[in-house]
Amino acid sequence: MSMRFSDEFEQRFAEMGTHYPTKRSALVPTLLYAQDEVGYLSDEVVTEIAGRLELTELDVRNVISYYSMLTTEPRGKYNVQVCTNISCMVRGGEEILKFCKKKLGVAKNKGTTPDGLFTVEEVECIGACSWAPAVQVNYDFHENLTPEKMDEVLEQYRRHG
Ligand code: FES
Repeated sequence: MSMRFSDEFEQRFAEMGTHYPTKRSALVPTLLYAQDEVGYLSDEVVTEIAGRLELTELDVRNVISYYSMLTTEPRGKYNVQVCTNISCMVRGGEEILKFCKKKLGVAKNKGTTPDGLFTVEEVECIGACSWAPAVQVNYDFHENLTPEKMDEVLEQYRRHG
């Protein structure tokens, strides 16, 4: 039995079949769409996509582990992506990361709070170097951060629920 995606996903998937020269080249965009829809790349999703694109599950998992934006673990509602690349690092990015982990009680990278609200992830440059240190939460950017400012940012999301 194969799993069901939304009609929108199926439409995109069908379109990709016409745009990409090989099935393999449709893999990353397909994974991104699936992740947007399901929230993460569950075992079921991996099996389904491997089958559709005629790849092995190992092929698919190797690609997933290569791209930091792809994840096989459930993520929180707010994905707090802390940049620790050079511009952010020299301006306190590591401190921001440590602060987020401590405040939220998340020990490991890409770990999620028990209430499912926050995931904390260390990421490569997010293109906001001029305003370092920077953090991206889902699609929103927060810049020129200090632990105090970061505290406020997290509280805002928490209040929002
Ligand atoms: S190094 Fe952090 S945004 Fe570029």
